[in-house]
Amino acid sequence: MTSRRQFLYASAIGLGAVATGIYTSRIEPYWLEIVRRSLPIAGLPPELRGASLVQLSDLHVGPQVPDDYILETFGRVRALQPDIVAYTGDFTSYEDTIVDHAGRMYQDLPRGRLATVGILGNHDYGPGWAHPEHAAKLADLFCSLGVTILRNELTDVAGLQIVGLDDLWAGRFDSTRGFATLDPRRAALVLSHNPDTVDRAGWDRYRGWILAGHTHGGQCKPPFLPPPLLPVENRRYTSGPFELTGGRQLYINRGVGHVLPVRFNVRPEVTVFRLEAA
Ligand SMILES: [Fe+2]
Repeated sequence: MTSRRQFLYASAIGLGAVATGIYTSRIEPYWLEIVRRSLPIAGLPPELRGASLVQLSDLHVGPQVPDDYILETFGRVRALQPDIVAYTGDFTSYEDTIVDHAGRMYQDLPRGRLATVGILGNHDYGPGWAHPEHAAKLADLFCSLGVTILRNELTDVAGLQIVGLDDLWAGRFDSTRGFATLDPRRAALVLSHNPDTVDRAGWDRYRGWILAGHTHGGQCKPPFLPPPLLPVENRRYTSGPFELTGGRQLYINRGVGHVLPVRFNVRPEVTVFRLEAA
């Protein structure tokens, strides 16, 4: 009797482990959550009040993320008819044919009614994040598809200044250049792939929100505990909103794709912000 009970107990544990494995590798990585939040911006022009900005991050088009999951996500975002779409890096994961692959996948990428902007992430710089010539090819591709790729640059969207900072791990983050033409009296928003950039120098003239990605939320998170694997120096930066010094706020999107195909308690995310006057 005891051995029968032990057998049933062991079987239950085994089944639980298999079910968790299937859930973590086959279900949650593709169980997209559309997160809705307000985004208060000081001095927001009246015509942008109530406008929608969709943040897409860490799509990681390439060998690890199924194309049909990405295309289905694009369809869901297009159906939202966003006013602005902002891509916060890691459009791709590297493979030999990634430029062609990305060209096919992003052909009908979600665009905003007013603007489509983007920044590059470390994975867009190729192996070791060390190939600026590869990043330049991707930047050219996205520009040809209607994305304003910001590499430590500022663009104006209907009176909203959007600053896009380039990638930290690729050695291209340059806040001095990025903020060079910022008018601190006017509405502004910053895109920066790696959340650690907010602790670097050069933010003195900026107050407001910074939209980031990069962490994928850690991808696996035990309940009530921080995720054990986070690619950031400041381990406070997991996912979601954070209050920072200097009148700044950070939002870290959990990303759409992945490098390792596992997620647990950290669903992939598309964020739909509603712009409001602060
Ligand atoms: Fe990423």
